[in-house]
Amino acid sequence: MKAVILAGGLGTRLRPLTYTIPKALVPLCGKPLISHIVDSMPPSIDTVLIAVNYMRDALESYFRGLDLPREIIMVEELEPLGTGGALKNVGRYLDETFVAFNGDVVSSIDLDAMVCFHNSSGGIGTVALWHVEDPSAFGAVALGENGRIVKFQEKPPKDLALSNLVNAGAYVFEPDILDWIGPGNVSLEREVFPQILTRGLYGHRFGGYWVDCGTRENFLRAQRVLMDGGRHLMSNTELVGASRVIGPNYLDGVKCLSGRIGPYVSAHKGVVIKEESEVSDSILMEGVILEQGSRVKGSIVGPGVTIASSETATDSILALH
Ligand code: GTP
Repeated sequence: MKAVILAGGLGTRLRPLTYTIPKALVPLCGKPLISHIVDSMPPSIDTVLIAVNYMRDALESYFRGLDLPREIIMVEELEPLGTGGALKNVGRYLDETFVAFNGDVVSSIDLDAMVCFHNSSGGIGTVALWHVEDPSAFGAVALGENGRIVKFQEKPPKDLALSNLVNAGAYVFEPDILDWIGPGNVSLEREVFPQILTRGLYGHRFGGYWVDCGTRENFLRAQRVLMDGGRHLMSNTELVGASRVIGPNYLDGVKCLSGRIGPYVSAHKGVVIKEESEVSDSILMEGVILEQGSRVKGSIVGPGVTIASSETATDSILALH
């Protein structure tokens, strides 16, 4: 079976980092976001089509360096086509039931179970559904009999939401969905889904975890979820003097000179944390330096950035560009 990953968005909510790194390649607990999606696919997926536009070259060179048990095909859009248009653009590869994902979602979804549900429903598509307390930032759905979706609401006010079940950005589709997508820039969620309700669009709930990593807050939330689930590491890391490491972290190639790390910190090759500096709930990409007495909290710090002595970075995205 083929899987499509929609990875061509501009990632504007993660700027300035996404001026130089596509969102799909931002590291999450030791590997790029998109690799969490690819690596969690079951063996039934033999081919992954990556729909790219923005920073195609960076994605291509990342995947070229990997040895994966499935074929990866990059399909470029000459201009951003939206989530629907991007799917149509890879249509020449799709001649049987396929799965599709937003490229910025990490989840524990059981894809084989969802495909099984889809096959028994006889619909044109199945949307993975996640339960949230407040659906106002998401696409909410109302379900009818046998899990059939009867209505979509894009970002409804909390008190007007039809349900607490939201579109989790993972789908199973029949190839004839492509006939419902017009030319140019088309939104799957806003333009295509409402049209295909009569053709049979179903919802499939799943449990475990789900995080849409489109914002700094959610990217860091995904990191906490994964670390709490056991994805933590301390490797090639030098702790000097009065260094302290607290809670789960993902540290690989870090030098700590009497600083404090954690909890929930990913720090990569070449990161140096100097005397009396502190970092928690953050991502420090390659070569980041925390000078003496600096503090970083709730932040994503791009490659090569130096936080000056006694400076503080809180709830920020920092990048050189
Ligand atoms: P923001 O600019 O911060 O909203 O991020 P984004 O551009 O990634 O948009 P959004 O988070 O709504 O996109 C959801 C998923 O669809 C992401 O994985 C995007 O990469 C992907 N996506 C959005 N627009 C396009 C597009 O035009 N083409 C392709 N191939 N993928 C897209």
